[in-house]
Amino acid sequence: MMSEPVASHPSFLNLNGIVKRFGDFTAVDGIDLTVKQGEIFALLGSSGCGKSTLLRLLGGFDQATEGQIHLDGECLNGLPAEQRPINMMFQSYALFPHMTVAQNLAYGLKRAGMKGREIAIKVDDMLERVQMAHLSGRKPSQLSGGQQQRVALARALIKGPKLLLLDEPMGALDKKLRAHMQLEITRIIEDLGVTCVMVTHDQEEAMTMADRVAIMDAGRIRQVGTPQEIYEQPNSRFVAEFIGSVNVLRGVVERDRIDAVHLHCAELSGNIYIGHGLTCHIGQQLSVAIRPEKAALSRHRPAQSENLSEGEIVDIAYMGAQSVYHVKLSSGFVFIVNLLNSQRTMALPYQWGEKVWVYWAPDATVVTEAQ
Ligand SMILES: Nc1ncnc2c1ncn2[C@@H]1O[C@H](COP(=O)(O)OP(=O)(O)OP(=O)(O)O)[C@@H](O)[C@H]1O
Ligand SMILES: [Mg+2]
Repeated sequence: MMSEPVASHPSFLNLNGIVKRFGDFTAVDGIDLTVKQGEIFALLGSSGCGKSTLLRLLGGFDQATEGQIHLDGECLNGLPAEQRPINMMFQSYALFPHMTVAQNLAYGLKRAGMKGREIAIKVDDMLERVQMAHLSGRKPSQLSGGQQQRVALARALIKGPKLLLLDEPMGALDKKLRAHMQLEITRIIEDLGVTCVMVTHDQEEAMTMADRVAIMDAGRIRQVGTPQEIYEQPNSRFVAEFIGSVNVLRGVVERDRIDAVHLHCAELSGNIYIGHGLTCHIGQQLSVAIRPEKAALSRHRPAQSENLSEGEIVDIAYMGAQSVYHVKLSSGFVFIVNLLNSQRTMALPYQWGEKVWVYWAPDATVVTEAQ
């Protein structure tokens, strides 16, 4: 039998117990991960958390201290980079400066022994895909940053790798070009259907490009999920605070019913009502998170007895599409509320120093941690 049992490799890319130590320092500390075929998967985390190290292990530029990597049923352990069906696009692009765009793309195919005619067809096809056909005769130094990036991507994809690795793919681009290239690169990768693992420390980039995201911290994975799951249901305070801004409150369980939980919260000088059941007990401390755009403001006391507090506006940041209000509650806690400016139909917008009520719906409260 040539084929292996499917059950042993339920996903396209499997990482099992991956550890990487440099001397007595552990850069990657026991990572289990599965990536599906055709998926764009982002590793997101702050500087030094081990993202690039993990990517280098996948690419074969370094070997894991412990653990196994399987790709499409094949164990990659011990295989050097050039024997893996994987290509990596480096942040620096690493284009050959003395070659034209077309020659940069043809290089790898030539080395693989492909014939001239076949190479020309593949190069033309790839140049079309990345919209660089009109610049095929230029040298890299005659291209803009975004154009160089397209060439680097085309070169990484031309041999049809099973897995594409991107390390901070937008690192060298300015903000506006970044946003454009994020969509462009996603389109090209999805068109080709290639599986991709990318590394970024930019949460917006991960959320825009990836089907699923892993949040990394100190060599470990804290949560894996779709961008929406990570944002709406963070499993910890760490993840909630890492992705976007968030109000984190602490409460003590006062009433625990099957369908609802009431917490007393000192920061609110009141109660938090959670509209679903939890595994918790009376007297237990919980952390909850409320996203700033899920809360609202009112000049009058809202018609709800929980999930509200009175305070004073101490800061307003106008951000164009939205404004961010900092409301200092009587406990001293500063609660952040985002309001869309397009919805601001009030004749009198909220002012600095104004007394307002902050409130939110029960389903906007996410429990992030039990203590
Ligand atoms: N060859 C090496 N020898 C010793 N330590 C290393 C080596 N490579 C990486 N490290 C350490 O491992 C940790 C993780 O590094 P890594 O490059 O993976 O971080 P990163 O998450 O990619 O960060 P950044 O966002 O800054 O690129 C860092 O503390 C780094 O100093
Ligand atoms: Mg890095």
